[in-house]
Amino acid sequence: MNGTAPFTLNDLRAARTTGAKLAMLTCYDYTTARLLDEASVPMLLVGDSASSVILGHASTLPVSLDFLIEITAAVKRGATRSLVMGDMPFGSYQEDDAQGVRNVVRMIKETNCDCVKLEAGVSSTSLVSRLADAGVAVIAHLGLRPQAVGLMGGYKFQGRTRAEADAIVSLAVQFSHAGAAGLLLEAVPNEVSAKIVQATDVPVIGCGAGAACHAHVVVLQDLLRQTPRQPKFVPKVDLSASLIETARSYVNMIERGAYPDAAHSYEMPADEKSKFLAGD
Ligand code: KIV
Repeated sequence: MNGTAPFTLNDLRAARTTGAKLAMLTCYDYTTARLLDEASVPMLLVGDSASSVILGHASTLPVSLDFLIEITAAVKRGATRSLVMGDMPFGSYQEDDAQGVRNVVRMIKETNCDCVKLEAGVSSTSLVSRLADAGVAVIAHLGLRPQAVGLMGGYKFQGRTRAEADAIVSLAVQFSHAGAAGLLLEAVPNEVSAKIVQATDVPVIGCGAGAACHAHVVVLQDLLRQTPRQPKFVPKVDLSASLIETARSYVNMIERGAYPDAAHSYEMPADEKSKFLAGD
């Protein structure tokens, strides 16, 4: 991100053709947003991870829409150039499309965020379609979906077998056809991300999803090693530097392709990987 121009969804889309690698960090407050904006982090996600990182809950399930709206508005006030993505919490869009549209509209009107993200199960394709029709930029979050921790039986990487990996690719294609402005893949092997990049025409943001993605996001407090433990894909940075320098070095690692590498990626078992790769 250069100069004073705000980073937009079009800049993210352009990464599909330019090959630029883009950085994103989570952010939950005004002051940090100002510093990350100053460090030229192009995109900030006000994630429902605030539930654990800010409020101390064991999962993302308890955080309320009101809380996320309040902090997303604060981040947006602090970020004059970085794109701000609001996150829809558990229970705010799963009842039916009408509830989802109503709450996404609230998120946008009350925070002025640039786009919204929601965790995408197959029944959310019609919601994404309606929102896209209404002109809302929606990012569909696939792979490991922390709001589905109960069903998934824990926070394990997804796409371990050919069948699981094929299902994620198929869901990604359905969401891009439904009008999602982009995809966010959490904790999947790089081969799965690479197929999704190939099979869709929207930008793909990875969170522990390998080097094939156009952009990469981690939780800021994981990057700063402030959390009790971090997922294996979080890069190691020099913690003696200031927040601005640390964020700049994270952006730089991504831009020059030094992050993520094999040490930050999940591996399918070799036999499943060859079946998945051979399966077009
Ligand atoms: O809420 C969040 O921080 C997220 C990222 C982990 C992708 O959804």
